[in-house]
Amino acid sequence: MKVLGIETSCDETGVAVYDTAIGGADGLRAHAVYSQIALHAEYGGVVPELASRDHVRKLLPLVRQTLDEAGLSTGDIDGVAYTAGPGLVGALLVGAGVARALAWGLDVPAIGVHHMEGHLLAPLMEDDPPAAPFVALLVSGGHTQLVAVDAIGSYRLLGETLDDAAGEAFDKTAKMMGLPYPGGPQLAALAEHGTPGVFKFPRPMTTRPGLDFSFSGLKTQVLLAWQGSDQTDATKADIARGFEDAVVDTLAIKCARALDATGFDTLIVAGGVGANTRLREKLRADAKRRGGRVCFPRPALCTDNGAMIAFAGALRLEAGQHGDAAVHVVPRWDM
Ligand code: KG4
Ligand code: ZN
Repeated sequence: MKVLGIETSCDETGVAVYDTAIGGADGLRAHAVYSQIALHAEYGGVVPELASRDHVRKLLPLVRQTLDEAGLSTGDIDGVAYTAGPGLVGALLVGAGVARALAWGLDVPAIGVHHMEGHLLAPLMEDDPPAAPFVALLVSGGHTQLVAVDAIGSYRLLGETLDDAAGEAFDKTAKMMGLPYPGGPQLAALAEHGTPGVFKFPRPMTTRPGLDFSFSGLKTQVLLAWQGSDQTDATKADIARGFEDAVVDTLAIKCARALDATGFDTLIVAGGVGANTRLREKLRADAKRRGGRVCFPRPALCTDNGAMIAFAGALRLEAGQHGDAAVHVVPRWDM
């Protein structure tokens, strides 16, 4: 089955074709992401109305480009998957409207996909995918969750953030230190030049039992350290490194706890923060020590993309699921 995937939940227009007959990493026939970063940069964050309008402008040309790259025409598509939520309602409606209209015109099924399920399943698009059960760490700009995946489609929430998501903490901390939007990757790049241990921040909620997270206090600690410092470039990098180490350690401690609690030996990591190099290194080292396994999508498929939506949609369409022709989106939606 060749499924066209469409992602428009926030500030990235993502389109892809996943071919289940090929499967694995090669099953991804083509994917393209158009990022609206430059559009929102001057406002320091995503402006929902501008996001929707830009999806309107970019989506159809991107569908055309992706099909061309895959060497396919619209008539080759067997199904269309789109992000139905959670996300910005106007942005979601653009993707849902185009997906439903395309499916209607091509007389193929369409299915709305949960954005976080897309992230969660993205590591399974790589070669030699792990089989359930496993623990999933979902770390994006809007979510930080630990999920027990007993089977594909069967998810138990083990823990989640009580305030800021990990990506949100990266972005807000970066903004406080004057880094341009979107701050997460910039802060991570800056941390590469910092010296570990110069600034030592707490690992929130790790000294008591439980699998929930809280990153908002950490952000305040960093602000105080930044305000009380000489604010040179070198200090900025040291603070970035101290912050990144605190987030990475905290996530790693809770992942180990979740693996202990479930008895599972495989961890998968997904969402934008999963692209963080230090997090990947730390979780790989931990897995080696435990004799377990950790799987990530390639960095480009950690952040928002159409491939994960095509893949998650393909699994559901192959299982016979699809909605009616209504253009239905769910801005707030538990997985
Ligand atoms: O999954 P995603 O693309 O969008 C959401 O669904 O939220 O995640 C975006 C988040 C942003 O907060 C961004 O700052 C963060 O992921 N991010 C990173 C890195 N790359 C993206 N955070 C830390 N290190 C990175 N390398
Ligand atoms: Zn996302």
